[in-house]
This record gives sequence, structure tokens and C-alpha cells, in this order.
Amino acid sequence: MLFFTSVPLSLVLAVSGATAQNVPKHNYTCTSFMLKVPVSNATVIVPPFPEIPNQYAATAFANQITIRTPTTPKVNFTTLTKVFNISAEYCTPASPGPKASTLHILSHGLGFNRSYWDFYLPSNLTDAQYSYINSATGAGYSTLSYNRLGIEPSTIADPYKEIQAFVEVAVLAGLTTLARVGNITQVPAPKKVIHVGHSWGSEISVGLAAVAPELSDGIVLTGYSALSQYANFFIANTAFHFANLNQPKRFPPSKYSSGFLTWPDKAGNQYSFLEYPYFDPAVLDRAEATKYPFTIGEFLSLPALPVAAPHFAGPVLYLAAQADLIFCASNCTGLFGTDSVAVKGFSGSSSVETYIQPNVGHGINLHHNATGAYNVILDWANRHGF
Ligand SMILES: *[C@@H]1O[C@H](CO)[C@@H](O)[C@H](O)[C@H]1NC(C)=O
Ligand SMILES: *[C@@H]1O[C@H](CO)[C@@H](O)[C@H](O)[C@H]1NC(C)=O
Ligand SMILES: *[C@@H]1O[C@H](CO)[C@@H](O)[C@H](O)[C@H]1NC(C)=O
Ligand SMILES: *[C@@H]1O[C@H](CO)[C@@H](O)[C@H](O)[C@H]1NC(C)=O
Ligand SMILES: *[C@@H]1O[C@H](CO)[C@@H](O)[C@H](O)[C@H]1NC(C)=O
Ligand SMILES: *[C@@H]1O[C@H](CO)[C@@H](O)[C@H](O)[C@H]1NC(C)=O
Ligand SMILES: *[C@@H]1O[C@H](CO)[C@@H](O)[C@H](O)[C@H]1NC(C)=O
Ligand SMILES: *[C@@H]1O[C@H](CO)[C@@H](O)[C@H](O)[C@H]1NC(C)=O
Ligand SMILES: *[C@@H]1O[C@H](CO)[C@@H](O)[C@H](O)[C@H]1NC(C)=O
Repeated sequence: MLFFTSVPLSLVLAVSGATAQNVPKHNYTCTSFMLKVPVSNATVIVPPFPEIPNQYAATAFANQITIRTPTTPKVNFTTLTKVFNISAEYCTPASPGPKASTLHILSHGLGFNRSYWDFYLPSNLTDAQYSYINSATGAGYSTLSYNRLGIEPSTIADPYKEIQAFVEVAVLAGLTTLARVGNITQVPAPKKVIHVGHSWGSEISVGLAAVAPELSDGIVLTGYSALSQYANFFIANTAFHFANLNQPKRFPPSKYSSGFLTWPDKAGNQYSFLEYPYFDPAVLDRAEATKYPFTIGEFLSLPALPVAAPHFAGPVLYLAAQADLIFCASNCTGLFGTDSVAVKGFSGSSSVETYIQPNVGHGINLHHNATGAYNVILDWANRHGF
């Protein structure tokens, strides 16, 4: 075998990074249910082009977004009022203590369903090392996770006109309001609510903090830097593959039109989400087999999302992935200083803490040391009185 002398040590010593840690399941109970979440007058962008006719046009669109000389197309806005079905799950410790009245509302990112927060390998369904829900309930907290709009069995809405950023912010706001007033039968009204996001779920959580700051007591933003310029690497990596051609059995064209997109394969998945050698290849296989599409509407509306929530008064934690491709071009070190867009965005916050989790890529929860990252979040929550 040949190695170039400049190959980083971490690649040569590949196997040594693969230290798995088994984590036992804590004792907690979960209930899943379907909710009707009303969205009222949400701002949506009118797609400035007709539905994409074929794969060639979709890939060309990816080229256009990542072009050296980008132009910002003029778009029209309209509003959307509709009730969506949202699939959610509430988990709480079997013997709830005082912390159980703090509810962590978990918003997953693009490419996943809510199992991102409760990830298991089929080969060991009792090894909870990837489960945020297991760690959070183990620390005494309750969680509410949900499949974002467009992720079955939540409504598979229109991927051009409906599955857009501000609609998803409105869904999160609606869900939070229902929980807070005690209108979700399965969820006792919480005393405090922390919003925990990953990636696109973090963008949605910042959106919530910007438009409805009173709905949250604390914000945790994982896999997110408030910088959008590096997302081009993700777009290039996906080449906007049609989900209905990439995994036609799971995403039949009858349910998933040309507005639903994905990356090509597991190498693409690794490139965008995982840092070698700090993950189990079986986890990559599982993540690829269970992936979900993102939408044209989400990309159209992304530039309109706020990166600042100056009226949010509560504490904020940024938990960045050291080698995050999508938000840091694979190196987050140096992007979270006091002058960063991320920190300045929460100028009215009681506290903004930043932490760079070592040895992980963008998909933090799918790495060997996922529980290390969870402990950072849970320690933060504890220190801030949640
Ligand atoms: C599965 O995970 C549990 C909990 O961490 C561990 O005790 C058990 O040894 C694992 N089983 C196998 C077959 O690896
Ligand atoms: C939506 O906005 C329009 C215009 O601002 C307003 O007339 C209408 O009452 C709003 N509808 C709802 C349901 O809030
Ligand atoms: C915006 O709306 C105007 C007026 O209806 C229309 O003429 C124009 O084509 C629209 N532009 C886009 C990009 O949709
Ligand atoms: C889990 O907690 C419940 C309620 O406190 C208790 O009845 C049960 O025995 C516990 N199970 C385990 C495995 O500890
Ligand atoms: C929500 O679910 C109900 C019952 O399955 C269905 O009739 C309705 O069309 C769904 N609504 C949306 C917006 O998907
Ligand atoms: C909560 O339920 C009550 C009783 O059905 C209703 O009057 C109220 O409008 C609901 N609140 C929200 C935010 O849905
Ligand atoms: C997430 O997606 C996988 C693959 O489709 C599925 O097995 C799992 O049940 C889903 N989880 C939820 C909570 O929808
Ligand atoms: C990441 O960036 C920092 C600050 O610019 C630099 O010191 C460090 O060497 C970089 N890390 C890698 C792995 O390139
Ligand atoms: C695991 O994560 C924790 C918390 O960030 C960190 O202190 C520890 O060094 C990490 N361990 C490895 C092996 O990366």
C-alpha cells in the first residue's frame, strides 16, 4: 500500500479513531402522535420558475446556484394559511423529577426525520450511544421531537410553494404554542422550553427566536454557524439528484415530485455529514438507507431566513462540529469569536456560549462521540437553571 508523505496522520491511523462506546438505555417512556398544526399567514416565496422538468434541469439549477457570478433573482412573496399534520413524539423520564418540566423541542435537519435525535443501529437496538433523547431523559429532561413538514407521516406538502423556511418556522411556533398552553393531550404543559436544532433545524430555531422570541427560554444551535457561503459545497455534492430517481421505492414519483431532492449515494452522504474515521461505517449505511429528501422551496427561501434574533433574551449555546462541511467548509475553528455573525446575532441574549465539538463532521449525532456532544448541551442546560 502506498501513502503520500503528506497524508494527514488521522487518515493513516484510520482504525484508531474507531473507538465505539456502548451506552445503556435509560428508563423513560415515549408516546408518539399526530398533531394538527395551524399555519397562519406565513410568508412564502412564489417560485420564480415553473416546476423543474427533468434531472438535467435540476442539476443545471445546482450549477446556477454555485456559479462564480451569482445574481439574486427578484422574487414575489405571498402568504400561506393551512393546517398541517405533524408527527411528533414526547419522551419523559420514568420517574420524573423537577427537570422533567423543561421540554427540549428538537428540530432535525435536511436529509433526516426526527430519528436523527434517536438514532439506533438495527444490529443493537439497546445501544443508545447515538440517542440525544436517551441522554436528555437520562439527565431528567423531557423531549418533544417531530418530523418537519414534508417528512412522512407529517404532511408531504408542496415542495415548491409550501415546504419553505417561514412555513417551517410557523410550524415550530405552532407546535411550541400548543405545547406551552397544554393543548397537546400527551404533553404536560412545560414550565420551560428549550429549542434544540440541528443544521436546517437550527436555522428554523433561529427563525423562531427572531419572530416569536417569547416562545423560547433557551436556544441550542448544533451544526450551524450563521454563515451561508459554504452551503455551496453541499449543493455541489448533491447535484440536486431527484429523490424519485435516487430511491424510487421509498420516494415514488406519485408522492415525490421533482421538487424533492437528495445527494447521490453514501460517499456523498459521508462528504457532507461525516468526519472520517470518527464514525461507524454501519451508521453511514443506515443513514443513507433511511435518508429523506430536501426541497426546492427550502433552497429558495433559505436566503430570507434571519441569522439574528436581537429580541431573544434567554441563553444561547452554539455547538459547532469541528469539521462541519456545510457551515464551515470543514473547519469551524475561528468562526465563533465575539465578532462572528453567530455571536452578534443574539445581541439581546443573557448569555451566548460557543463550543466546538472535536472529531465530528456536520452530522454530529452520527459520530462515535455523540454522547460527548450531548453532555456539553445537557451541562449547559443545567448551568443555566433548566
Ligand atoms: C448492545 O448495547 C448494549 C448497551 O450498550 C451493550 O451492553 C451490549 O453489549 C451490546 N450488544 C452487542 C451485541 O454489542
Ligand atoms: C393575514 O394577513 C392579512 C393582511 O395582513 C390580514 O388581513 C388577515 O387578517 C391575516 N389573516 C390571519 C388569519 O391572520
Ligand atoms: C411578480 O409579480 C408580477 C405581478 O404579478 C409579475 O408580473 C412578475 O412576473 C412576478 N415575478 C416573479 C419572478 O414571479
Ligand atoms: C422504570 O421505571 C418504572 C417506573 O418508575 C418502574 O416501574 C420500572 O421497574 C423501571 N424499569 C427499569 C428497567 O428500571
Ligand atoms: C391530515 O390527515 C388527515 C387524516 O389522515 C387527512 O384527511 C388530511 O388530508 C391531512 N391534511 C394534510 C394537510 O395533509
Ligand atoms: C387550546 O384549547 C382551548 C380549548 O379547546 C382553545 O380554546 C384554545 O384556543 C387552544 N389554544 C391554542 C393555542 O390552540
Ligand atoms: C425515520 O425513517 C426511517 C426510514 O424510513 C423509519 O424506519 C423510521 O420509522 C422513521 N422514524 C420516524 C420517527 O418517522
Ligand atoms: C482550522 O482553522 C484554524 C484557524 O484558521 C487553523 O489554525 C487550523 O489549523 C485549521 N485546522 C485545520 C485542520 O486545517
Ligand atoms: C468527546 O466529547 C467531549 C465533549 O466535547 C470531549 O471533551 C472529548 O474530548 C471528546 N472525546 C473524543 C475522543 O473526541
